[in-house]
Amino acid sequence: MASAEAVAAVVEAGGAHVPALLRRLEARLLEIAASHGTVLAEHAGTTIAAGGKRLRPLLVFVAAGPAPADSEAVLRAAVAVELVHSATLVHDDVLDAAPLRRGRPTVVAAAGRAIATATGDLLFSRAFAELARNRSVEAVRVLSDASCALAEGELLQREDAWNLGVTRERYLRRCELKTARLFQAACALGALHGAAEAVEPLARFGRRIGLAFQILDDVLDVSGPAERTGKHRGTDLLDGTVTLPLIIARELDGSLAALDVRAVRTPDQAEAVCEAIADTGALDLARAEALTMVGEAKSDLPSLPAPQQLALELVADGVVDRYA
Ligand code: IPE
Ligand code: IPE
Ligand code: MG
Ligand code: MG
Repeated sequence: MASAEAVAAVVEAGGAHVPALLRRLEARLLEIAASHGTVLAEHAGTTIAAGGKRLRPLLVFVAAGPAPADSEAVLRAAVAVELVHSATLVHDDVLDAAPLRRGRPTVVAAAGRAIATATGDLLFSRAFAELARNRSVEAVRVLSDASCALAEGELLQREDAWNLGVTRERYLRRCELKTARLFQAACALGALHGAAEAVEPLARFGRRIGLAFQILDDVLDVSGPAERTGKHRGTDLLDGTVTLPLIIARELDGSLAALDVRAVRTPDQAEAVCEAIADTGALDLARAEALTMVGEAKSDLPSLPAPQQLALELVADGVVDRYA
């Protein structure tokens, strides 16, 4: 999803306050990245300046509604969520040995494991420092729960690496922990600092679109192309991560069922397996599962003021548009 398009759609739907909040978010993120020594300034700075869709802060803003009691608190929550997300990406690229992120070399590729680990740690710490300023124990608990889930999800992914016996249930559990819980937290934090109504239903909405988002990310890893995703095609295969497209493709195709993932070692080999997965139709099936989740998330939204409801629906559609 191009964030400009998503934001434009959300703004049209009644989120006229959103562009100003996003500008303040960017300024604050850059300020934080620049303020903790040269290492953080260089590596956290490039991670943040490389962009990203800012989908989670957008969810915080939209979940908070157009007239929150304390817009500074909403902004700080959005900053905190994006910092946790950025920290996780920096650490994730260490664990996944990923070379490319947001179209640029990852911190681990550019500066090594020690610096990438420290950069991620610093970003995490800054996230909680920012959120603590809201003086809400509940808010800190929500973000802390999501961060614990992220760590658990990453460990589950390593535990299941190269394991072709991974079931859908186990795969979805991993997606829930490593991705959906932070989307859930973004919505919960927005609701908490906004109208403070509908925290639970909005959190549930966030969780569902987060699950769909990870499934679509896994589809994109197989479909590519790198120019569009900012990541090499087949990165998941190369680090042994078994995702829904491969799980489905193996059910459909005997030669993929017999595949030894450990034998997939080079980007060219990964590319060939990606083609074979695509040929089974598994990408469309995986995508359909994600679309169903987004549909359920939208239809289960509580009754909210019409502009806010529409804005939330548009963010959910933006998650799906990633694939288009
Ligand atoms: C990437 O998230 C990590 C996943 C949960 C799949 P995004 O695709 O939102 O990353 P950026 O922030 O836009 O780079
Ligand atoms: C999502 O998993 C990363 C986290 C939520 C930590 P991926 O490993 O699929 O994310 P990308 O593909 O590297 O962005
Ligand atoms: Mg990764
Ligand atoms: Mg991925």
